[in-house]
Amino acid sequence: MEASACPDDYEHPIPGVMYIVNNIPGPGIDIEDFESEYSVGCSCTIQCTDCSCTRGFPNYINGRIIDEKLSGPILECNSCCTCGQDCGNRLVQNGPLNSLKVLEASNKGLGLFTAKLIKRGQFICEYAGEVIGIDEARHRFEANKNSMNYVLVVSEHIGDQNIVTCIDPKYFGNIGRYANHSCEPNTNIVPIRIEGTTPRLCLFACRDIEAGDEITFSYADGIANSVRNFSETRCLCGSSNCVGYLPHNSI
Ligand SMILES: C[S@@+](CC[C@H](N)C(=O)[O-])C[C@H]1O[C@@H](n2cnc3c(N)ncnc32)[C@H](O)[C@@H]1O
Ligand SMILES: [Zn+2]
Ligand SMILES: [Zn+2]
Ligand SMILES: [Zn+2]
Repeated sequence: MEASACPDDYEHPIPGVMYIVNNIPGPGIDIEDFESEYSVGCSCTIQCTDCSCTRGFPNYINGRIIDEKLSGPILECNSCCTCGQDCGNRLVQNGPLNSLKVLEASNKGLGLFTAKLIKRGQFICEYAGEVIGIDEARHRFEANKNSMNYVLVVSEHIGDQNIVTCIDPKYFGNIGRYANHSCEPNTNIVPIRIEGTTPRLCLFACRDIEAGDEITFSYADGIANSVRNFSETRCLCGSSNCVGYLPHNSI
């Protein structure tokens, strides 16, 4: 898959982790499927508010996701679309916010913070890494039981299909890998597709996030009927409705 030309100046502050801007295929993934790209796009000439990409209702307004679209699936305009690069249906492909910082997050290890105010609905960054198969994800969950686990599992229920995406940014990942879990998170994970069928798992602010605040999401996101499991790691999110242990979606 051709990497999108998204501006991203972030690097990893720790050795042993390779910085990648886009997902890469890992064990259990069919490379041909991963690399296959959409061969059609919309034929809009100005703005994409109601076309084959936005499907009747804009995905974003002024660069912010619409509440109704939070559960996905979202299709951004791609290289087959006739609209321009400034079309409002191109957001994630333009790269992460430039205000992100990786800092110590007390006993949770490192965490993701913002140096500037983030408004509700804004795209923050992708949780990019190795896309792996379900068996490999199970294996890595087990292998990381007593250390940090980065595997994120997201299920989408589209029509009668259940699409499960597993991403592990432990060794190959972007800045999203530093986002910790909270039982009262300030972002949602939304699957977004751009050039092909593998979704990008994207963090969008679900409320305003003040400068200096930590950016968190729920590791067991509420995307359509996901079933939650709990790890043996105590959750240190500090919220009043903390569930006690780090959750994850079942695989
Ligand atoms: C995706 S990584 C997040 C970044 C990580 N803190 C680091 O230093 O690289 C997930 C791991 O961070 C830690 N973590 C994340 N959220 C946490 C929380 N709410 N409470 C305790 N540990 C947490 C756990 O060790 C978890 O396996
Ligand atoms: Zn269009
Ligand atoms: Zn389009
Ligand atoms: Zn918690």
